[in-house]
Amino acid sequence: MNYQSINRRDFLRLSGLGTAAVFGGSLSSLLSACTDISAAAGLSVNENFTPDVEIALHAAPTEVAILPGQKTRVWQYQGEVLGGDVNALQVIPNSYLGPIIRVQRGQKVRVQFTNDLSEPSIIHWHGLHVPEAADGHPCLAIDPGETYTYEFTVADRAGTYWFHPHPHGRTGPQVYNGLAGLFIVSDAEEQALGLPSGEYDLPLVIQDRLFDGDNQLVYGGNGMMDQMMGFLGNRLMINGQVDFTLPVATRPYHLRLLNGSNSRIYKLAWEDGTPLTVIGSDGGLLEQPLVKNSVTLAPAQRLELWVDFSGRAVGDQLRLINLPSAAPDGGAVFPVLNVQVERQEQASETLPAQLSKISGYSENDAVNSNSPRAFTMAMGMGMRWTINGRTFSMNEVDRDEVVKLGDLEMWQFTNQSGGGTGMMGGTALPHPMHIHGLQFQIVSREIDSSGRSDWETLSDGFVDDGWHDTVLVLPGERVKILLKFEDYEGLYLYHCHNLEHEDMGMMRNYRVEA
Ligand code: C2O
Ligand code: CU
Ligand code: CU
Repeated sequence: MNYQSINRRDFLRLSGLGTAAVFGGSLSSLLSACTDISAAAGLSVNENFTPDVEIALHAAPTEVAILPGQKTRVWQYQGEVLGGDVNALQVIPNSYLGPIIRVQRGQKVRVQFTNDLSEPSIIHWHGLHVPEAADGHPCLAIDPGETYTYEFTVADRAGTYWFHPHPHGRTGPQVYNGLAGLFIVSDAEEQALGLPSGEYDLPLVIQDRLFDGDNQLVYGGNGMMDQMMGFLGNRLMINGQVDFTLPVATRPYHLRLLNGSNSRIYKLAWEDGTPLTVIGSDGGLLEQPLVKNSVTLAPAQRLELWVDFSGRAVGDQLRLINLPSAAPDGGAVFPVLNVQVERQEQASETLPAQLSKISGYSENDAVNSNSPRAFTMAMGMGMRWTINGRTFSMNEVDRDEVVKLGDLEMWQFTNQSGGGTGMMGGTALPHPMHIHGLQFQIVSREIDSSGRSDWETLSDGFVDDGWHDTVLVLPGERVKILLKFEDYEGLYLYHCHNLEHEDMGMMRNYRVEA
């Protein structure tokens, strides 16, 4: 069994229901959400803002050598440091992926984003706590040739965040074409630990792609099926490279994994059964290291690992593999990362027993712990993925999507798609649910009996400790989280981070009001 349960027959049955059906047409409080922010934001620099780091990023088409032979046409974020520390920008050699931005907590950052594509785009800083004008809402998308200025103070803990496009309906193809980069934050708490740094602190962006006979990227070839399921490629890429091998020394490393895939869910493990030592999640360091036999990594999620090769011999080869699970197209074992131990090296780093201090939210402090704000993900008519029966509308914020600044709330995501209840069910797919503008804590998970056996193929790899901005909700599962709306009023988003689902409208606004 696996979640790839939308077969041709379901497809025909559901699509036959008519795409003209109306969704999201509930009695909304229609606020002029978008126009409010777009009027002032991002169009010019604020002379009163003195950045510590100023960066220019251009999104532009280019060609790179990925496979032997013909070059591959991709889209790329090309960066340049305009002011401040030149090390704020790190280019991944031979990669189409965006540069790595490295900053310190508390720094003021200005990014000048110029769109040199042939379609609208906008950058979203995934996981960062920033004002709405810096969050990359699709209504802020700029046209080709235009520049958008982001100005914000890095408020987040040390951690592995990332950035990617967020134009309405085109996030999937733009990320797929190569637009994604890491935004790595460091702070005093992290530096005091003396974790492996420099060349021993390595980001690994995991993505899947599909190439045609001319070495060009293929996207959306299966039409509606791709949109329903999410795009699944057949070629694994690490940091934008195929057949990637990581050369290492016999010492500890700090590896930062990002699942930058459009929809693929990974279940990662060392081939030889060595456990994985997790030290960080989406929102930075855990309190204590967590030892796991496998880790489940859904789209947009990050995990930081402590990996110690000091017991290995020069010449050893290790492989991080994908284990079979019920995830779509997840039935097979395949290699994800090859590691080659190539040199002997002494190192003094040791794994700290205590990594950070996290003040846990308490359910009792939530304003609604007895009646969580409930979101149900299901298939709607016309084969649209919906959240509470609604799909994205640029200006729409329903009454139940308005939250109060300063409140700690409990939210509950229910993936109803496993139930098979007539035309609204019968389709079981995972949804990695993401909330903009904040990091949350995961409180509990419940799985119904029909979903349990598939769930168990992935749940042993969940890392629910620490801070998160994306949580995987499997068919038949209900997940409760605690989140707090701090500092900024305004318009933010919550959505499924299966990018094809998001582009189809499995996304909604929420508004923080004082
Ligand atoms: Cu990484 Cu709204 O997304
Ligand atoms: Cu985000
Ligand atoms: Cu989804």
